Amino acid sequence: MHWRDLVLAAAAVAPGVNAAQLRFSCAQLVVDRIDPLVNPGQAPSPHLHQVVGGNAFNVTMDHSAHDMASTATCTSCMPLEDFSNYWTAVLFFRARNGTFKRVSTYGNGLGYTQSNGGQTVYYLSSGKVQAFKPGFRMTVGNPAFRTQAQAKQNPSLQFTCLATSSTRSGYRFDFPTGQCQAGIMVTVRFPTCWDGQNLDSPDHQSHVAYPSGSKCPSTHPVTIPQVFYETYWNTQPFNDKSLWPADGSQPFVWSFGDPTGYGNHGDYVFGWKGDALQRAMDANCQSDLFSDKVNCPTLKLQTIADTNKCTMSPKIKENLSGWLTELPGAMKVA
Ligand SMILES: *[C@@H]1O[C@H](CO)[C@@H](O)[C@H](O)[C@H]1NC(C)=O
Ligand SMILES: *[C@@H]1O[C@H](CO)[C@@H](O)[C@H](O)[C@H]1NC(C)=O
Ligand SMILES: *[C@@H]1O[C@H](CO)[C@@H](O)[C@H](O)[C@H]1NC(C)=O
Repeated sequence: MHWRDLVLAAAAVAPGVNAAQLRFSCAQLVVDRIDPLVNPGQAPSPHLHQVVGGNAFNVTMDHSAHDMASTATCTSCMPLEDFSNYWTAVLFFRARNGTFKRVSTYGNGLGYTQSNGGQTVYYLSSGKVQAFKPGFRMTVGNPAFRTQAQAKQNPSLQFTCLATSSTRSGYRFDFPTGQCQAGIMVTVRFPTCWDGQNLDSPDHQSHVAYPSGSKCPSTHPVTIPQVFYETYWNTQPFNDKSLWPADGSQPFVWSFGDPTGYGNHGDYVFGWKGDALQRAMDANCQSDLFSDKVNCPTLKLQTIADTNKCTMSPKIKENLSGWLTELPGAMKVA
């Protein structure tokens, strides 16, 4: 089975077949200009991120030593044993006069409207999978990409123009060109095959791979859960033609200066406690794709109201409100 079909196929899997479809909400933990994966030790990092998960998120997260589950005191995700961190860049609106306003995230229209922004996280499998080892991390996508040909190398990164908060049809690899009545959904899917050896790699990507057909390649023989997440961007306040460029071009830009969307990328640092993720995958948990029902008795869950309470103050103090004369980090739009 091709990974692109995994969501639909997983939904149709017969009872008794080894397949998990774990879905849950993670509220916004922090918006901060640090990146422990790509720019460890650098504060501030070059561009701004929005982050969900455990509150052990930090400037440096050394994978040989950092034990997120014992350092964290809360998680913004519903499973109480998930102290992983999941993050993306931040969306900005660029006004006619060249100033920028940060776009906020909001709760997923399918079940998680009570969430204070953040992301909806999925772990999927069709067949037996091996959960990640402590210290595992990876990125997907490339912030330097600016063309469709580049972005198509990885069609697992997508934008959906939300006509309503539950739209799931139509996707593209760049920013939607028109105004989206209920905002923009950004989908980030990670590879499902691992080399079985390396918790990370210099480019944070080459230790994982996508399957060819339904099988993992011999170089990356271990099938891992498919991690993917959806982020709802609240672009509605900018659905005013008088604010948009006079030539009708789309006005959104990623925090790393990308006005196309093709540089979409995502980051993941595994931080589940003990064997909790393996248990959930082995139990073939089947969350409801259209409601807030996580349906996974082996996991201890918290309410969405409680996920909203787990927040951090940003390590980098900078003014992110109002119309900014430049992107944080003086990122140039190009
Ligand atoms: C982040 O790292 C610093 C420096 O090592 C440490 O003092 C601080 O307690 C850490 N914060 C969290 C939330 O782990
Ligand atoms: C820039 O444009 C925004 C949106 O139209 C407006 O609110 C803001 O006042 C403008 N700033 C300046 C300095 O003109
Ligand atoms: C943040 O920047 C905006 C836009 O320049 C300004 O209107 C606002 O007063 C600033 N807020 C603080 C706390 O400095």
